[in-house]
Amino acid sequence: MAHYLSPFFLDVKKPLTAELAERCPAGRGGFAKHANSLESWATRRRPACVRFFGVDSQHSSKRIAVIPGDGIGQEVIPQALNVIRATGAAVEFTEFDWGADRYLRDGTTVPPDGFAMLARDFDAIFAGAFGDPRVKTNIHAKEILLGMRFQMDLYANVRPVRLLDSALCPLKNVEPKDVDFVVIRENTEGVYGDLGGVFKKGTPDEIATQEDINTRKGVERIIRYAFEYCHRHTKQDGSPRRSVLMCDKSNAMTHAGGLWQRAFKEVAVEFPKITTQHMYVDALCMQVVRDPRQFDVVVTNNMFGDIITDLAAALQGGLGMAASGNIHPGRTSMFEPVHGSAPPIAGKNLANPFGAILTAAMMLAHLGLTSESEKIEAVVLEAVRQKKGTQDIGGTLGTREAGQWVTERVCL
Ligand code: NAD
Ligand code: IPM
Ligand code: MN
Repeated sequence: MAHYLSPFFLDVKKPLTAELAERCPAGRGGFAKHANSLESWATRRRPACVRFFGVDSQHSSKRIAVIPGDGIGQEVIPQALNVIRATGAAVEFTEFDWGADRYLRDGTTVPPDGFAMLARDFDAIFAGAFGDPRVKTNIHAKEILLGMRFQMDLYANVRPVRLLDSALCPLKNVEPKDVDFVVIRENTEGVYGDLGGVFKKGTPDEIATQEDINTRKGVERIIRYAFEYCHRHTKQDGSPRRSVLMCDKSNAMTHAGGLWQRAFKEVAVEFPKITTQHMYVDALCMQVVRDPRQFDVVVTNNMFGDIITDLAAALQGGLGMAASGNIHPGRTSMFEPVHGSAPPIAGKNLANPFGAILTAAMMLAHLGLTSESEKIEAVVLEAVRQKKGTQDIGGTLGTREAGQWVTERVCL
């Protein structure tokens, strides 16, 4: 196992049992009050080898691999972990230092067998963000982030678009009930496979191709996932979800679009109670801003889903508020805020931690820890209402202070 461990891990000196007793009086997943700084959080991280000390056999804690990554990922993820601990949820965290620093230090992006290890040894993965101006090629982000999505086949990128408070929305006269849809983004195909090439590079005749991969299996399963999601989930106000909208660009991209159109019609037949809609992606972007009330469940390809969910994040108060899950039902899935590493604000205690904290809530719900998840969401909602957030959402707090506000109230 040693090759998964950062030198940092190996610095954890206390035996786990002593550490638990000292820091987690409430038991597993317990919470040390005011343990809110990165430093105090770091001392409570446990090495990957803890399971060999019998942790797994002692109780049925959910094992969560934590990969904070780069930039603000390293600031928001510790806050989210503190919040999870404050719920008393039965979870065990194991941190991995995969990211730009590690890559620049020893050239490692993902250690050998890393994805198999994540799938085998963990119930979920909680990731921050990947991207660092020092790594111009972005190779580490591609291998870690897209690597998890592709190699672990996390085919459904579920990105809820929910407005918590009307003050956060840049649109006029829009209430929380008006913005409550979810984008189901295909996460393993499209242009993200990076198939293609460059011919006659650097000459006036240069040709670059970027292939858009759409398989019958991939398209059909994400569309079916969207219908099943619609069938199983309600809106925030408890009313049923009723409609799935497929978004493509089949007027111009006829081959891929044709497959999406046919698969959508065929899968829809299996769900006769669910209404179907279709929009071209350009029109959808306009409608999301003009009238977000009309959306319920949107299913689309990898790239359109990426773009739509940044746009939709603006309806929720910005990228700092948006949560996401990368899911393959029945397998170890990965949860990450929608935002990136935000280099200009990294290390300044400015980043909004609520997207990461809401992502943590999403992960706990996925793991069946429903009451803990609901508690977190309720406290974040209260924080937003009381303007106990960061500047990007009209608050005055820093990343740590906003995280601490939520942590302390989740604990009550
Ligand atoms: P970004 O999401 O990092 O930032 C876009 C804008 O949103 C910036 O103005 C930033 O300051 C702001 N922002 C983002 N998160 C915020 C938060 N939590 N609180 C307050 N403001 C926030 O996108 P970008 O600037 O296009 O990309 C920066 C780097 O992150 C790039 O390397 C990119 O590839 C990477 N990236 C990674 C992920 C990921 O790991 N999932 C997602 C998007 C971008
Ligand atoms: C996201 C990001 C990634 C994507 C980048 C970093 C490759 O923008 O998770 O939304 O495009 O999927
Ligand atoms: Mn994106």
